[in-house]
Amino acid sequence: MSEKAGTHISHIHDADYEAPYLEKMLTSAALVNETGWGLESLNGKWNFGVDWYDTSRRAKWFLEEGRDPGGRPLPVDWDWEAWERICVPSCWNLARKELRYFEGSGVYTRTFRYLPEREGERAFLRFEGSSYRTSVFLNGSYLGTHDGASTPFCAEISAVAKADNRIVVVARRRVDRVPMENIDWFNYGGIYRDVLLLRTPPAFIKDWFLRLVPDGKFQTIALDVEAAAPGGLPAEGEARLRIPDLGMELPIPVRKGKGSIRFSARPELWSPGNPRLYEIELGFAGSAAASSDTVSERVGFREITVRGRDILLNGKPIFLKGICVHEDHIETGKTTDEATIRATIAHLRELNGNYLRLAHYPHDGRFARIADELGVLLWSEVPVYWAIAFDNPATYADAENQLAELVLRDRNRASVVIWSVGNENDDTDARLSFMSRLAAKARELDGTRPISAACLINHEKLAIEDRLADQLDIIGVNEYYGWYDPDFSKLPRIIENSKPSKPVVLCEFGGDARSGERGSVDDLWTEDKQARLYEKQVEVIGACPYIKGTSPWILYDFRCPRRLNRYQELFNRKGLVDADRKTKKLAFSVMGDFYRSLPD
Ligand code: GCU
Repeated sequence: MSEKAGTHISHIHDADYEAPYLEKMLTSAALVNETGWGLESLNGKWNFGVDWYDTSRRAKWFLEEGRDPGGRPLPVDWDWEAWERICVPSCWNLARKELRYFEGSGVYTRTFRYLPEREGERAFLRFEGSSYRTSVFLNGSYLGTHDGASTPFCAEISAVAKADNRIVVVARRRVDRVPMENIDWFNYGGIYRDVLLLRTPPAFIKDWFLRLVPDGKFQTIALDVEAAAPGGLPAEGEARLRIPDLGMELPIPVRKGKGSIRFSARPELWSPGNPRLYEIELGFAGSAAASSDTVSERVGFREITVRGRDILLNGKPIFLKGICVHEDHIETGKTTDEATIRATIAHLRELNGNYLRLAHYPHDGRFARIADELGVLLWSEVPVYWAIAFDNPATYADAENQLAELVLRDRNRASVVIWSVGNENDDTDARLSFMSRLAAKARELDGTRPISAACLINHEKLAIEDRLADQLDIIGVNEYYGWYDPDFSKLPRIIENSKPSKPVVLCEFGGDARSGERGSVDDLWTEDKQARLYEKQVEVIGACPYIKGTSPWILYDFRCPRRLNRYQELFNRKGLVDADRKTKKLAFSVMGDFYRSLPD
């Protein structure tokens, strides 16, 4: 894009001002893993401007052109240091009440010092999550724009970084993408996950994938490594993998930036009952540069496959005893932390569960790390939610990029066992094509995990029938009999009518109850009705031969601007626990008793 400032007049008339920015997108191709020579946090107080009409990008404030060509001062509209201060990471909606429903552009800025510590050092910014279209500028240079509200992205700053730097970031909601505007959760805005400064050697490990080969024998490990050299060139050199507890140390030649190896080993298998993680160290020495890079991580080895109507973990049939969770917290919105993640898993344990559906978008990367450590199975999903513009190529590119960023971030996590390509989409030809391509992309990036999606029941035929099912390894199904459709008798008929040839996971059922609301089992919004609904649901689930897992909707009540009646008050009340994340409802014990009744 031309980084020449326009004039006051040109900024007013340039309707297509965004086009130059979109020529430089920050995608999964630019993603750099979180290791290298060091990570520094850029979290903290940033200055923040409420930019209703995206003027910051229209008028190119990042150029800081405060004078005309003759050096005379201009009446600029920005004032970085005079702005309010906001916490990064956080959701601006919760920073102060006037911003609760703000959906324009948020302009974030701060200064920071950067001094290279070693010869040839490269530097990258890594954002763990920012909603939704995020443009990044450093010292007056435009670095690129990222689309997507829940996946990480990177921008290299080696060429423009100085000792003293000013970063400007503009985050703005999109209503025509992935997801679209109409969603059943609160659209929080801003830089709501960590911002990191990565330092790497000139040639470094850009990505790696270490896993058990899913051949049913549990004795072959595969590793793919990708290394990058300066100027975006593929690196040449040698990687070395060390797994001390397996007594392994192996060289992997890297040619044209890639190296792969398979080797025999008999690792102790990871599972919810035995979340065994191995310390691994992956080094890379580029032949051109004297420097070397090292990645240190903990990896679990396990196999998750499908055989007939069964889901197999390490060759044994497993029932996914789960529940859905949103990344929504009454105080912090979509911003989360380790304590919140651990508390969520503690509630899952109280339900005697072993599995969580992370709805409806990629959750914070720490969730899968902690699930690896604690032994929780995860369904991880991209927000191809409801009525997406399935016929728009730009929307597909956006969805595929978010899927790639999710898979590249988490495919080394044993806890992630299912990739989901979407939720509750109408069975149209355009949707079938769009989501079939997405499922194929997921398999191309990771052939070791089953692919699923939350499909709808065919309500005319009263059967589990969705053309996308042929492209899935596990059929996810959402149904709300006993709630949105009061005629619960349809559910057993659907189970009878359906003859799936592969496992079905009931990935949503439930109903709303306001915590403390009591009445008869027929009174809407009461805990009594919710509990009775759960009793009837688990009776059907328990008797169905092809349902191999379930994740009722949902663990916690969550903010939802579509929910306006006196019981909801802008919350979706289907939680088994109130939005306070403490107060359990009657149905909580119904679900817990059901899971305790199942064999481990
Ligand atoms: C849908 C959807 C959820 C929504 C829920 C509800 O199935 O997948 O995102 O919140 O039902 O209506 O409460």
